[in-house]
Amino acid sequence: MAIKLDLDDIQGLIARGYRTLPHARFTIFTTQDTADAHALLSWLLPRVTPAGRFSGDSALHVAYTAAGLRRLGLPESVIAGFQPQYRGGMTDPNRSRFLGDVGESDPHHWVWGGPQEPPLDGLILLYASSPEVLGARQAELAAHIDAAGIRQVTVLDTLEAGNNEPFGFHDGISQPIIGGLPKVSGTAPAGTPGGRVVPAGEFVLGYPNVYGQLTDRPLLPAADDPRHLLPRDPAGSGAADLGRNGCYLVMRQLEQDVGGFWRYAGEATTRPDGSEDPDARTALAAKMVGRWPSGAPLVETPDRDNPRLGGDNDFGYYHTDPLGLACPLGAHIRRVNPRDSLDPQPGTDASLAVNDGHRLLRRGRSYGPGAGALAAAGNNSHAERPAGADVAPESETGLHFICLVASLIRQFEFVQHTWLNNPTFHGLYDDTDPLVGSRDPRGATFTVPGRPVRRRYRDLPQFVRTRGGAYFFLPGISALRYLDQLPADTRSASFSSSATR
Ligand code: HEM
Repeated sequence: MAIKLDLDDIQGLIARGYRTLPHARFTIFTTQDTADAHALLSWLLPRVTPAGRFSGDSALHVAYTAAGLRRLGLPESVIAGFQPQYRGGMTDPNRSRFLGDVGESDPHHWVWGGPQEPPLDGLILLYASSPEVLGARQAELAAHIDAAGIRQVTVLDTLEAGNNEPFGFHDGISQPIIGGLPKVSGTAPAGTPGGRVVPAGEFVLGYPNVYGQLTDRPLLPAADDPRHLLPRDPAGSGAADLGRNGCYLVMRQLEQDVGGFWRYAGEATTRPDGSEDPDARTALAAKMVGRWPSGAPLVETPDRDNPRLGGDNDFGYYHTDPLGLACPLGAHIRRVNPRDSLDPQPGTDASLAVNDGHRLLRRGRSYGPGAGALAAAGNNSHAERPAGADVAPESETGLHFICLVASLIRQFEFVQHTWLNNPTFHGLYDDTDPLVGSRDPRGATFTVPGRPVRRRYRDLPQFVRTRGGAYFFLPGISALRYLDQLPADTRSASFSSSATR
């Protein structure tokens, strides 16, 4: 049965990545008391962009941590209905080990969101069509925040969105196609590995997920929503559905060692006479990603880049490249979305169906020393320039990684832990993700299957480290309205401890 999504209640970030709004800034804030928190939400509420309405020159979104929801007055009995990973936070010591946030990525070294900081309340995401529009909207926001005495923990700038991430590869190509969204994007025909439609409930709470079920979310007795601000539980329990039309938002500041990455690729491919081999350097880097700098997938063009295939997403692995001779088994894109490679029946629809339960809707933006370095790289020019020449060592660059999911554990944490940072992924032995994986305590090898023999690259440095992060909840707009009026109703209504399930 076709699902109809309530686009006027869903924040627009779920429906679009705002390619037409290439300028973005993310403000992370913490408030002193409930009154400040409410003053901010009341101001933000009419400015939040729903999926069904989009003016064209800017968009604004707001998401909250569990501490932020508490500050707004949401009772503990309701908070208990959110997923434990969200409630416990990204920096819980067990979670840090699970996510690979150890060594240099340990939250104690983070520039924001670390355990030594006061808890974060929330995140405001601003997108705009030009630097001027962004500046004007940000100034308005900053003035309001200042006047309300709210602390901006950090304001994260981003690079103008283009095609390439800082290592120089075309990014933002492969995204899940969400059932029920009016404009289904994607280059691949329906029914093919790249053209699969994933149920909306994988990315928006309150709709059926891959199991045909509604993912757990906070529900409250209808009596706790006397003004009927919230939608009702679609399962028919009569409960008020605080989670519906919302989703979890994972944010991680991932610093990229661009110089180190290209230096390693260059040194590992130096010819026996000591001269550099730029083509081999680019080819090794492409093996790590699974796509060439233009975005062309290695399974389709294993030996050289072909920019005409740059946006292609219509491929599987099992039938064309089961041994990883074209795209290594441990390459970044083969780990984070193994497509049709999964047991128990690889190469079949059943395999793709298992994979559907681990998809991520990515909404990240790059950050760094300015558009200059990336513009100099162009689309395919890493082969021509000396490794690491374009980024000064002191200028940090990387990705403000953002992904949207309905289940933190089954989607983001599973991909990060069981696929990306797993040294024994797909029968490998000591390989984590060559591009972004942790090397602590294992995982510093990259295996490139080949004939007659495979090639193993050893002592891979860690090219990406975590510099900040948090789990947020991106509520539906009705839920924001409910939170906005919360203190009044919390006083008048009796929240029961059985409010959640
Ligand atoms: C600085 C860190 C990262 C860089 C530079 C990076 C880079 C890339 C590139 C170049 C692609 C291929 C283009 C595309 O399909 O969009 C890609 C795809 C992808 N990445 Fe990453 N990535 C990073 C971190 C992560 C993390 C931490 C995750 C998940 C936890 C992730 C998940 C994905 C997914 C799901 C895809 C799509 C794969 C597909 O569907 O074929 N990435 N990434």
